[in-house]
Amino acid sequence: MNTALKISNLAKIYKNGVQALKQISFSVEQGDFFALLGPNGAGKSTTLGIISSTVVKSSGSVSIMGYDLERDPFNAKRYLGVMPQEINLNIFETPLQILVTQANYYGMPRKLALTRAEMLLNKLALWDKRDQQTRMLSGGMKRRLMIARALIHDPRMVILDEPTAGVDVELRKLMWDFFVELNREGLTVILTTHYLEEAENLCRNLAIINQGEIVRLDTMQRLMHELEQETLILHVASALETAPHLPWDLKLLDAHQLAVSVKKGQSLNELFVALTAHHIKVVSMRNESNRLEQLFMKLVKEHRHD
Ligand SMILES: Nc1ncnc2c1ncn2[C@@H]1O[C@H](COP(=O)(O)OP(=O)(O)OP(=O)(O)O)[C@@H](O)[C@H]1O
Ligand SMILES: [Mg+2]
Repeated sequence: MNTALKISNLAKIYKNGVQALKQISFSVEQGDFFALLGPNGAGKSTTLGIISSTVVKSSGSVSIMGYDLERDPFNAKRYLGVMPQEINLNIFETPLQILVTQANYYGMPRKLALTRAEMLLNKLALWDKRDQQTRMLSGGMKRRLMIARALIHDPRMVILDEPTAGVDVELRKLMWDFFVELNREGLTVILTTHYLEEAENLCRNLAIINQGEIVRLDTMQRLMHELEQETLILHVASALETAPHLPWDLKLLDAHQLAVSVKKGQSLNELFVALTAHHIKVVSMRNESNRLEQLFMKLVKEHRHD
């Protein structure tokens, strides 16, 4: 396997003193579908910004398709497509103009550029909008146009910073299907997302980043296996002083709330029967938080204890 992206000891301190990246290292193999996950402010966009040459690193190195980004920027950038998190389109150009201009930067012949632009605009449900000024597109349409722009020169690796943010469910599905299709054809896809359900089904490998550090590098499969345990919060009718002694992992959060850790999909009937026998009446039940948040919290805790 050849390496598509190699990040070594990458660090970034912004001018205001924020240490956004603390010497991170990871690699992505060619053909991978890779997710960079982490809470807001973790350093994901900073990492992708350095790879796409929009953010200046403080130290460390990046190589793309084996070319060092600093020593051989031309070759390193040539096979890379980038979609940033913030919208940065020329809103006075039409989608078609934007794509053709971009293809031109990469020296792509106009005829080929037009063929690819048509294909991409169709795939991303934007063909109808091709001749409208971009400022008239909705937020979700602009994001899809940025994806088309990232792909116009037929890159071998694409980095997408929250490609599906602000895109409705139906179109998100269409986009993911498209990414899968491109990945099958050999494109290396690296993306960030806050939708774990989507990442879970599509990404093979991942890095989890928190406060500028990688807290986990793993396969999606292994990580999902660990997430099978979930915490439920039970709201009880009368005040409790201690958690009842039962063969479940119960914790008293406050007088009216019990937390219980269960395996996903496990039946709770027996637990409720046992609680009733202890004269504990459950009035409502909820999930502790969404799985991605739980995952981040768990990993951050583990990382601190390392
Ligand atoms: N231009 C900048 N100047 C100063 N600090 C910055 C700048 N850009 C980002 N930061 C800081 O660097 C840290 C990492 O930000 P970054 O944008 O990389 O996070 P992120 O993981 O992409 O978050 P999100 O999920 O919200 O997009 C944050 O503390 C942020 O405030
Ligand atoms: Mg970001």
